[in-house]
Amino acid sequence: MKNILISTGHSLRYEDFVRAENCALFDSSGKRYLDLESGVWCTSLGHCHPKITKIIARQSKQMIHTGYCYLNPIIDVTAGKLLRITGINSGKCVFLCSGSEAVEFSVKMTGSFSDKPYFLTMKNCYLSAYGISGERSEHDWIQYDWKNGENIEEIDFSKISAFVFEPGSSSGLVHFPPEELISKIVLKVRENGGIIIANEVTTGIGRTGEWFGYNHYDFTPDIAAIGKGLGNGYPVSCVVISDAVLEKLNLKEFHYAQSHQNDPLGAAIANEVIDIIEKENLIARSKIIGDEIRNRLKEIKNKYGIIKEIRGRGLMIAIEFEDNGNFSYAERINEELLKKNIILVKRPGFEVFRVDPALTIKKNDIEYFLESFEQIVSTIR
Ligand SMILES: Cc1ncc(COP(=O)(O)O)c(C=O)c1O
Repeated sequence: MKNILISTGHSLRYEDFVRAENCALFDSSGKRYLDLESGVWCTSLGHCHPKITKIIARQSKQMIHTGYCYLNPIIDVTAGKLLRITGINSGKCVFLCSGSEAVEFSVKMTGSFSDKPYFLTMKNCYLSAYGISGERSEHDWIQYDWKNGENIEEIDFSKISAFVFEPGSSSGLVHFPPEELISKIVLKVRENGGIIIANEVTTGIGRTGEWFGYNHYDFTPDIAAIGKGLGNGYPVSCVVISDAVLEKLNLKEFHYAQSHQNDPLGAAIANEVIDIIEKENLIARSKIIGDEIRNRLKEIKNKYGIIKEIRGRGLMIAIEFEDNGNFSYAERINEELLKKNIILVKRPGFEVFRVDPALTIKKNDIEYFLESFEQIVSTIR
């Protein structure tokens, strides 16, 4: 594995994974690992779900790609389903490849018709790999620090074109802004003529025990940017846009085109993902199983005193450890978990684990994780 570049401070892990099935990854010697991070939180129906594999084979024989100006029935059918499940109901969809593209498209499109100078988002939200809210952004941003109690009365809402709301991840650390605060912001933005963009890349498609993270709040967005779980590991994302936004949009002034926009293969996979979630009642399952895991983790927290907080919604779960001042609990426990072939996310520099298994995770895999975790926590010094 000498030819692979890994950026952003991560190193290539040593396992040589060659095959995957639901929450299991197998290396070339046949050793089984338990994947509690669903790749990069993408394989929400488990790796190589047989129905997804079948759809990929079937659609690949019919049509993988075409120009984005041509309509294929599967694109339209999937767009209709996304309009329905988002609750936006009446509007249009654009299919793209990644979460970053979906968020960037949403922001650029809004910037093309709004005469207000600022986008508002929460401090520490992750929006895109291409830096739409970064230093070189063509837009001006207000990063509202809700966790440190910044006063929203100080924001001039008449200057906000859109509130880009990420309902629950906050740079992977799993924080959920309070409902009352979000209702207030949504109301103020809308009263002043701005719109609401929901960044559902991580929280969408059943991850939090609802179809979308904003379903835990009391509003429907004007635009929803969806990625990750939508393709179950295949790179497809979607921007769902309401009629109210489309009325403001002048397509002559907004140019956006890329080669894989509205590809039938991605749409066919997204369509199957939605069908499987509905037929197998996976959103309710994600809520129930997530609550069960959190309850068990809270018992472990109360017993051993090295865990600071367990938080989450559905199957988006975070375990935060106490600061030991001496060594990192998270690092040491992560090393021990890996020895037991358990893989989860430990963000470098943070005492936090993320547990985001597939919505289809089997009970025996959950049991194996919880028993192994408790055994390690009980002996860590
Ligand atoms: C909240 C959020 N938005 C956007 C993105 C970007 O998505 P992608 O990596 O698919 O481009 C991510 C990726 O982790 C994310 O967590």
